[in-house]
Amino acid sequence: MGAAGDGPSPPAPGSSPTAKTGGPSGILPASHWTAQTIDDDDNDSSLGDVDNVSSTASLSSSILEYRTINGRTFHSDRVTDGQYWTPNDERQNESMDINHHLLTLVLDGKLFLAPIKDDVQKVIDIGTGTGMWAIDFADQFPNANVIGTDISPIQPSWVPPNLQFQIDDATKEWTSRDNEFDFIHMRYLFGSVADWAALYRQAFRCCKPGGWIEDFEASTVMSSDDGSVKEGSPMNQWGKVFFEGGRKLGRPFTVLEDDLQRKGMEAAGFVNINVWDFKCPLTGWPKDKKLQEMGLYSQLALEQDVEGYVLYMWSQVMGWSNDEIHVYIAHLRKQLRDKNVHAFFRMRVVYAQKPEGKSDEGETAAAS
Ligand SMILES: C[S@@+](CC[C@H](N)C(=O)[O-])C[C@H]1O[C@@H](n2cnc3c(N)ncnc32)[C@H](O)[C@@H]1O
Repeated sequence: MGAAGDGPSPPAPGSSPTAKTGGPSGILPASHWTAQTIDDDDNDSSLGDVDNVSSTASLSSSILEYRTINGRTFHSDRVTDGQYWTPNDERQNESMDINHHLLTLVLDGKLFLAPIKDDVQKVIDIGTGTGMWAIDFADQFPNANVIGTDISPIQPSWVPPNLQFQIDDATKEWTSRDNEFDFIHMRYLFGSVADWAALYRQAFRCCKPGGWIEDFEASTVMSSDDGSVKEGSPMNQWGKVFFEGGRKLGRPFTVLEDDLQRKGMEAAGFVNINVWDFKCPLTGWPKDKKLQEMGLYSQLALEQDVEGYVLYMWSQVMGWSNDEIHVYIAHLRKQLRDKNVHAFFRMRVVYAQKPEGKSDEGETAAAS
């Protein structure tokens, strides 16, 4: 088992003057949160504590030599020199599973928006996580051959017979063949990828002519249309810290803000690009029942493991102490329970097609 700090080092904590003192990034210093008291009073939602139950794959190799930070495990440095920012333990995986339910609700029960054919043959889910999307897809298309890849072996072993999980770093040259897949799916890779254009170039190479790519990403900016998420509030700070941390790490969280999906797919050569945008409520404030349900699941997914979402970025990248992080989280939880706050975050699905008749043989070198 690796210890904290094994393997590649993150940037020096707090090395930017803005990290601890505020400034152009708009980030308040960590001491801002510890200087304030938290009254645990009003507006509490009915969300209770959440059980942590999930399955993990058991593989006897170095991919299980996880790094540990504050008792939470992260992917093995043997698999990638990349620095993925959430833990890979049960608590985080449960949050991922709740999020899968949310993202399916958001798409009205659908797993994807691209107009793929019913007889789709070969499909890959990049950064599959606990593999819920891949499992549901394989069940829905029993004649398709589905692969899910990830840098952590956190997928269950009881899966549909037409699904296989593989450990593979998507930010390196893909091990898949040219023109192999009818459908390439990605979801929630924000903050994991240094070069989005290169990722989509790999996808283009491995996509069959006429096949589709779809990428579902979200913003870390928590905002409101009525001003109820105030400047300097914990929710307001959330996106700012991720933006700054991602900038320091060289793995941007500004996927929506910089339109990286559409631009990268277009540059890779994909055509028929479609963009679907959605504002997802962060808590159960909407009156509309469906939106309210989405808000409650968003909050549940987040509150299942707020610590897991912030631990690496706030401590290893931004240099906050454990105490500072926990006090910030307490302030955030309080704001999440305030029914007068009407927060949402943006989601974006972009899907696009590799031109018919555009075989990629011989073009790999030019594209990579
Ligand atoms: C937020 S989770 C999303 C999981 C899944 N796509 C979903 O939507 O439920 C991101 C996943 O990407 C994986 N990941 C991060 N960097 C990766 C890389 N370079 N190659 C492959 N997977 C990666 C993480 O291990 C994690 O399981």
